[in-house]
Amino acid sequence: MKQNQASTTAAGIALARAIESAKPAGERICYDPFARRFISGAFYHFGKFFVDIGYSEWKGPGVIGFLVARVRYLDDYMQSCLDNGLEQLVILGAGYDSRAYRLEKLIAGPVRVFEVDHPATQQVKREQLQKILGRLPEHVIYVPIDFTLETLENRLSDSGYDPQAKTLFTWEGVTQYLTPDAVDSTLAFVAGHSGPGSAIIFDYMYTSLLDGTVTRGEVSNMRRYRRFTGEGLVFGIPEGTVAAFLEQRGFCQVRNVDADWLKKTYFTGVNERRQVAAGYAIVSATVKTRTHEEKVEGQGT
Ligand SMILES: C[S@@+](CC[C@H](N)C(=O)[O-])C[C@H]1O[C@@H](n2cnc3c(N)ncnc32)[C@H](O)[C@@H]1O
Repeated sequence: MKQNQASTTAAGIALARAIESAKPAGERICYDPFARRFISGAFYHFGKFFVDIGYSEWKGPGVIGFLVARVRYLDDYMQSCLDNGLEQLVILGAGYDSRAYRLEKLIAGPVRVFEVDHPATQQVKREQLQKILGRLPEHVIYVPIDFTLETLENRLSDSGYDPQAKTLFTWEGVTQYLTPDAVDSTLAFVAGHSGPGSAIIFDYMYTSLLDGTVTRGEVSNMRRYRRFTGEGLVFGIPEGTVAAFLEQRGFCQVRNVDADWLKKTYFTGVNERRQVAAGYAIVSATVKTRTHEEKVEGQGT
């Protein structure tokens, strides 16, 4: 990411959420009433124009479908964690994620929420939140970090993160922009520094999209505009291998959902003809319980 520029992809995803949320209740796949308020009117109308004339769908068939289904799936997953005694939530690469401000169980407490993001994006979000809410809410702790330069361990420990608490980590729309080392060190932190029953959920690209085996318009577009966005596509996981990938990194109970699953589950009725882009998936996993020896061995790492 560019050091002094807020994430343009975060704004783009907020735009997709805003457009979907403006649809009638029976038609929308996800609902985020804050999304529209994080972006400017000009950006909203400009983006909506390209969606309405079919350009976005032509350039990246099913991308919007995947993005809105991803929001819905993560909302549902988070809700079930909240219903099952979640104590802490860490939103990695939060962008304009509004769950801390719109999910009743988060607003009411006592779950502590850490929004972790690049300083440039987080600064803009905090300014927007001041305008929307009139203040920054007390249950949210803002943790600025550049994943490629700093470790989560240092940044979260300094912010009051409790490594014994049952924690959910969400990492929505972020892994593809990070180096393999940054992904590994984040997963190592989650696996080694969270309480029993902790879990992670994130989405990722298949490597076939990155290495050119499969070509897609949105991927070429992201590459073409990388100079402006500063957010290049770097990381992927080969299709069908994510369970082994996560098991090797200290996780169990891996559940992967792909485009077919999302389409079948959410796109019924008026949405039946909408596409969900192949080449992307969402995975959730629980942190494996470590033995006493493993904990001692892992100390200091
Ligand atoms: C596509 S946006 C996703 C935002 C949000 N999770 C969502 O789904 O709306 C990518 C996010 O990753 C963050 N990000 C990208 N590279 C980063 C880095 N090196 N360090 C910290 N955050 C980064 C950006 O600031 C941005 O908020």
